[in-house]
Amino acid sequence: MQVAHTLLELRQLLQPGMRPAFVPTMGNLHAGHLALVRQARPLGDTTVVSIFVNRLQFLPHEDFDAYPRTWAADCAQLEAAGCDVLFAPNEAELYPEPQTYKVHPPAELADLLEGFFRPGFFIGVCTVVLKLLSCVFAGGPGVAVFGKKDYQQLMLIRGMVRQFALPVQVVAGDTCRASDGLALSSRNGFLSPTERIEAVQLSLALQALAQAVQNGADLGASAMAKLEAQAMQSLAARGWQPDYLAVRRQSDLQAPAPSGAQAMVVLGAARLGNTRLIDNLEVTSP
Ligand code: PAF
Repeated sequence: MQVAHTLLELRQLLQPGMRPAFVPTMGNLHAGHLALVRQARPLGDTTVVSIFVNRLQFLPHEDFDAYPRTWAADCAQLEAAGCDVLFAPNEAELYPEPQTYKVHPPAELADLLEGFFRPGFFIGVCTVVLKLLSCVFAGGPGVAVFGKKDYQQLMLIRGMVRQFALPVQVVAGDTCRASDGLALSSRNGFLSPTERIEAVQLSLALQALAQAVQNGADLGASAMAKLEAQAMQSLAARGWQPDYLAVRRQSDLQAPAPSGAQAMVVLGAARLGNTRLIDNLEVTSP
């Protein structure tokens, strides 16, 4: 594996015409990231991973400084997973001047769910992803793999890539789960041992919601609101602070239409102690 800390080094490693298969990350890699890397490998000529903790996507009170940085372990894991090029710029390299040009994703998709509770988050995500894609795919088209764990992020990036005609095929990677069902996340490392045992309850609450929808729950707005509120109350009763548990359409993350066939996804975000966890499940059609 070769490491590029600068854009110039990256360009030297990625020769024109090479088809990169790219996985952007913020480091502190776990089995979920490595699964994305393994998924990416056969999709290109050279597998590229970036590690960059992007200040632009953290709100002032969020955990930018505390975000785990585990460089040596990340490098060892990437090497073992078959990564060819690791792009690890520092802030001065990626943002040599204040990043005043930013991508403003459409409010109807970006200002709900995660974007509602973390205003500006998706501006930061889309801006850095556009920049990383323009660095990695400067020499020609290729593939980028994003995890479904960040469902709304994946949808916004798909839209951005399509509308800006970026020379990138976006591929989705399934969420990896621990044996109890907890979705793997870098933030799981913040959980105390008792919180770690409790943490699976978020995915269980989403499973219960998904099951209710699959069993033909009333999709009308007030029935849905009741179902979602009940799910949030059950988590709150266990000591969580839920931001949202929501049943939405896969196509646009809006509330379901009261009737008619539509693919659905249930999404949730909740704080357990000081750790905010997110998860989602696509509802399989009955
Ligand atoms: O999903 C992430 O880890 C980040 O949002 C990403 C896509 C690497 C952009 O910083």
